[in-house]
Amino acid sequence: MPQATSHPAWAELQVHRDSVGKSFVLKEAFASDPERFSKFTRTFKLPDAVSSCPGDTEILFDYSKNFLTEETLDLLVKLAEQAGVEKKRDAMFAGEKINFTEQRAVYHAALRNVGGWEMKVDGVDVMNTKGGVNEVLEHMRVFSEQVRSGEWKGYTGKKLTTIINIGIGGSDLGPVMVTEALKHYGAKDMTLHFVSNIDGTHIAEALANSDPETTLFLIASKTFTTAETTTNANTAKKWFLEKTDNKGDIAKHFVALSTNEAEVTKFGIDAANMFGFESWVGGRYSVWSAIGLSVALYVGYDNFRKFLAGAHEMDKHFRETPLRENIPVLGGLLSVWYSDFFNAQTHLVAPFDQYLHRFPAYLQQLSMESNGKTITSDGTPAKYTTGPILFGEPCTNAQHSFFQLLHQGTKLIPTDFILAAKSHNPVSNNLHQKMLASNYLAQSEALMVGKTADQVRAEGGVSDDLVPHKVFLGNRPTTSILVGGHIGPAELGALIVYYEHLTFTEGAVWDINSFDQWGVELGKVLAKKILKEIDEEGNGSGHDASTGGLLGAFKKYSNL
Ligand code: F6P
Repeated sequence: MPQATSHPAWAELQVHRDSVGKSFVLKEAFASDPERFSKFTRTFKLPDAVSSCPGDTEILFDYSKNFLTEETLDLLVKLAEQAGVEKKRDAMFAGEKINFTEQRAVYHAALRNVGGWEMKVDGVDVMNTKGGVNEVLEHMRVFSEQVRSGEWKGYTGKKLTTIINIGIGGSDLGPVMVTEALKHYGAKDMTLHFVSNIDGTHIAEALANSDPETTLFLIASKTFTTAETTTNANTAKKWFLEKTDNKGDIAKHFVALSTNEAEVTKFGIDAANMFGFESWVGGRYSVWSAIGLSVALYVGYDNFRKFLAGAHEMDKHFRETPLRENIPVLGGLLSVWYSDFFNAQTHLVAPFDQYLHRFPAYLQQLSMESNGKTITSDGTPAKYTTGPILFGEPCTNAQHSFFQLLHQGTKLIPTDFILAAKSHNPVSNNLHQKMLASNYLAQSEALMVGKTADQVRAEGGVSDDLVPHKVFLGNRPTTSILVGGHIGPAELGALIVYYEHLTFTEGAVWDINSFDQWGVELGKVLAKKILKEIDEEGNGSGHDASTGGLLGAFKKYSNL
């Protein structure tokens, strides 16, 4: 595939941006077209069987407050066609090795294939083969039910009620985010800890109040070679054996979620207590796999299945819907539109939902580890901007911290707002929910309409020199996502997959490999070298003056 800039639609979009996009005024677009909301809103439906709230099965994606006309949409869709988005999507679902730098299929959709699609990699049916998706799911069902019911007991015969998941990156962010998001469905007698950081504080705090007799460790690592995870896991094992006077039974208290049986058994975990998956599951897409065991343990296997089912519905939509109606495709194309034609550097995701407080952190890995790339498929650097900086925080908190910059700063920050129409906690007769919703609606409106100097003056009581400080330029683009019911397992699954395929679409247009992550390697290698140097004499070798100087200072201050 050629560079994205070489597609004819790219040049057409540039002309269109200059003639329409740059002077586009959102509030005027609404004033001149009463149909704008319905024209640019897409509805995703979840079947009642999986929805958390039967009858409330829609999710609205309102793109109308974006710099979009019908012509913009036509041109963006044309760009997607010319970039081969559909072909690439179909290749992904066909199990082709689209992760071309690692010669791997990208097949996490198989993990949530509750719809019975035939899914094969190298001619092998990944669903039904030995050790395949269905067998692992069954293992997860049996194990999670045994632990939750107390049938699976610790070495002194007690029920396991503390789960410590040790993993990092995709082996942490997905499980943390999903268990937080689905807390409403979580087992009330279970305490969860997620240990990821190599900072000893993380494991120490998790172990501090844990009882070895009732603690289950999930060692979550695709490769089982990640330094943070193996170090934390070894510290946990040592703690467990010390606390139990070596009487503790590792087999009852440690399980592994991994693709690497050799390393798992070397660590001391029986292969029978390993939940496997395949190399075609990228770390940042692994919450659907055995890595999601903490989710199944916490919310129960039936809810985990609903989570997969909601995700599968979004896969189905992405796979089968024409580009112009395809919701994740539209999200991805809008991102390209802002990144490459308006020089937007960021993408803000702000959920109006406390349960989704780790959702932006999860999306950071999904988006930035996938599309933080410069090199295109033919090995040449992209002539355009790729992955945006994704950031976010839940609202309304974020409104009281960084929203100032959104409203009056100099940067264009395309923003997604997410709200569930129904709250799991309708406290004070839904007063909180109504206030939350009013803020959700007010923010996108305020960002769009702004406030002119005349309006400021008309409000009175403002001196002339203060007027410019109180002006809001407005015309800030936003996408509003409104879940028609509660955010339950299926709705969450669908929302995550929306962002997965949005990210896929961006990468497909930019002609980069969204599925490797070579960029994280260099720092890991240098850290290994410096770890040795901390124990050696001197300030290490081959470092620049700053790194060498800091190493020396660290050794002096820490006395290590
Ligand atoms: O270093 C980045 C990374 O490889 C991520 O892609 C991955 O999610 C994380 O590390 C953890 O990897 P693993 O599951 O193999 O321990």
